[in-house]
Amino acid sequence: MIQFLQISDTHIVKTGSLVSGRLDTASPLKRVALRIAELQFEVGQLDGIVVTGDISDDGTADSYALFKSILQPLNVPIFCIPGNHDARKPFRNAFEGTGYLPEKGKLNWQHKLGDLQLIGLDTLIEGQSGGELDKETLRFLKACLSDLKQTPAVILMHHQPFKSGITFMDSIGLQKGTSKLSAILGEYQGELLILCGHIHRNILTSLAGHSVISAPSVCSSFLFNTHHDAPIGFLKQEGGFLLHQWADGFKSIRIDPVRGDGPFPF
Ligand SMILES: [Fe+2]
Repeated sequence: MIQFLQISDTHIVKTGSLVSGRLDTASPLKRVALRIAELQFEVGQLDGIVVTGDISDDGTADSYALFKSILQPLNVPIFCIPGNHDARKPFRNAFEGTGYLPEKGKLNWQHKLGDLQLIGLDTLIEGQSGGELDKETLRFLKACLSDLKQTPAVILMHHQPFKSGITFMDSIGLQKGTSKLSAILGEYQGELLILCGHIHRNILTSLAGHSVISAPSVCSSFLFNTHHDAPIGFLKQEGGFLLHQWADGFKSIRIDPVRGDGPFPF
């Protein structure tokens, strides 16, 4: 069995800063790191941690350094893709040398994790909140999948390739490339799991016959309010993270950020 964690939207800022003047994001990530350390006793060794974007909120080198300093003591390989709050240059500087990122251009990559193929896609349009799958990225994905034949694969992308129902997030979702993505995925005969972030809420849906899961955010949540004029903003509610397992099929489990007391005998 292969098992890895998905954490998302950590929105780390440089030490001493708060997101939107009120949200401390380093503390939730530290709590998650403690929870992950406990989890390793409960489920055994983790093969990796994937981070589906918005690692940094301000795109500073300091924020990436702080992110790494919190998670690196876990000694689990970490694989990151950028979100709309990330900036490619400091992102690449922070994670180069880990062996999976390309030296230049978009941050599209692939990495074999046991029996699984991880495929990271870069949907970032720098300076914008919405994202895109441009021609280069779609070509990259198509080439990866055609080389794989029917190997089980996991595709990682920050922006959600579906309508979430949260109006203000759908207005800054994936602006371009969704129908081409759907056509490429529809041709793939193997097991495929598509993982994203961005909407700070855990939603399971499907695209071209394959499961798509958005991860909660480590630091905050967006209310599932489907009114078109719903208030725009975040909840101070830490969403935890996801554990994904592969053994003749995928299984995904949401892990709460804090373990809770117990178990108590019945
Ligand atoms: Fe985002």
